Amino acid sequence: MKALVLSGGMGLRLRPFSHSRPKQLIPLANKPVLVHVIEELRAMDVTDIGIVVGDRPEKIADLLGDGSELGVRLTYIPQEAPCGLAHCVAIARDFLADDDFVMYLGDNVLTSGVADIAEEFRNNRPAAELVVHKVADPRAFGVAEVDAEGRVLRLVEKPEHPVSDLAVVGVYFFTPAIHEAVAAIEASARGELEITDAIQWLVTQGAEVTARTYSGFWKDAGRVEDVLACNRELLDRLKPSVCGEVDADSELIGAVVVEEGARVVRSRIIGPAIVGAGALVEDSSVGPHTAAGRDCLLSGVDVSDTIVLEGASVRDVGPVRASVIGREASVSRSAAPEGPHQLIVGDHSRIEVAA
Ligand code: DAU
Repeated sequence: MKALVLSGGMGLRLRPFSHSRPKQLIPLANKPVLVHVIEELRAMDVTDIGIVVGDRPEKIADLLGDGSELGVRLTYIPQEAPCGLAHCVAIARDFLADDDFVMYLGDNVLTSGVADIAEEFRNNRPAAELVVHKVADPRAFGVAEVDAEGRVLRLVEKPEHPVSDLAVVGVYFFTPAIHEAVAAIEASARGELEITDAIQWLVTQGAEVTARTYSGFWKDAGRVEDVLACNRELLDRLKPSVCGEVDADSELIGAVVVEEGARVVRSRIIGPAIVGAGALVEDSSVGPHTAAGRDCLLSGVDVSDTIVLEGASVRDVGPVRASVIGREASVSRSAAPEGPHQLIVGDHSRIEVAA
């Protein structure tokens, strides 16, 4: 089985972080979402992976290269504009050839894995097998109507009045039957070739389309709030390890990772938390669910539930909560004890100050 990972799209809901890099590169527990996705595919024994890339494909290629460091083989498939998930299948036709494949949306995070569902697909080979997850409000997703035997009866993309509470997760298993379906559909009202329509076409033609329920943690890391939730969930699985230096005046409590070349000085870190390679944490209190990226600086801060990206610095401020601080960004207290805030903030950023 091959894989098709979708890493194009606009990432509008993840601005400003998607201005400089594709949204699928945002780090969760210090590892880009796409790397989590590739590790998950490898756990399914899938190593021949096509990756659809849109804007700034070089950022993805710089990180992943040919995939060999992650134990996979990557083929890059450029998409000129985000014309829909079924369009991605169409442009990957040569790569996919006549093989079965799993299509994995590059912003989906599933922490419990779907290797068992992959195995079942390999054994039974329905035309398509979907992964569904019960959610309170499925209106933002594809929604499936499924019978007691797990056969899909109907699929609707982002319905105003959902027919069930089963959201379609961004992991789909297909036999080559999907190619005829993709060729048969037309663009939707929002102008995209929808994979939901292609799968519905298979259902209408009487092909076997099944759905399996996944009940672990799942989120589409499309908005900052979701990114923070994924970061929390992944940090909850952190195994403590200290490769960097921790001085005698510091204290690590719970699952804390201090990566190589990182230094913790006169600070208290309550896990789960991770201090990236080459980072410096000094005179600080770092609370649970914080991921400090490579080469960043936390000095004199009280920070929790926050992602600090590579090379950013946060000095003499606090408390900082539920925040995401971009690469090389600088947050600090001004020299004057009172007075106005000075804000030099990039496009589409969001800042909430206490007073
Ligand atoms: O997350 C699950 C949902 O994903 C499903 O429930 C929906 O049925 C499915 O349509 C999809 O909905 P979204 O609106 O969330 O899809 P989005 O536009 O965010 O794209 C999903 C991923 O695919 C994202 O990583 C960007 C990438 N993509 C998207 C489009 C439209 C591409 O690579 N090319 C594209 O043309």
